[in-house]
Amino acid sequence: MAGCADDKEAGAQVEQREVDFRTLDDVIFTRFDGDTEDLIMILQAIQKEYNYLPRPGLSYVSTRLGLPLSRIYEIATFYAKFSLEPRGRNLISVCLGTACHVRGGQRVKERLEGHLEIVAGTTTEDMRFTLETVRCVGCCSLGPVVIINEKTFPRMDSYKITKKVDEYH
Ligand code: FES
Repeated sequence: MAGCADDKEAGAQVEQREVDFRTLDDVIFTRFDGDTEDLIMILQAIQKEYNYLPRPGLSYVSTRLGLPLSRIYEIATFYAKFSLEPRGRNLISVCLGTACHVRGGQRVKERLEGHLEIVAGTTTEDMRFTLETVRCVGCCSLGPVVIINEKTFPRMDSYKITKKVDEYH
């Protein structure tokens, strides 16, 4: 979950690339000592590296940690923060929790869907954006809230949000 005052740079990009098993070994063994107790953090680190959880990477983690692949997928599919599908370079999360919804979050979402020509839960063809909806990110008094790449934008409206996303490449 992004903090309300997070200040990550706009336009930060994570490119998709081939799975590099040396990178995975570095995550598993250098950063987490191959400790199966750290499985969730290992998956988080891999997702941060690739912007999603590549399936060959999950098989590799299973082998290297000696855990059943089913256990890895159980974790990877249980937590909404994990994605098994490639995501766009920029992740846009529109809050549709109650407070944001009553303040126009739905209109912001629909405006974004029209602007990006996708529906929530999907990615633009050019892999520039993935649009998703979330439920309450803890900044209710600032709604409607939109998060782009972990940076929180408060009090969005249809006009402001389209100008904002156009800053991301
Ligand atoms: S409902 Fe959107 S931040 Fe709480």
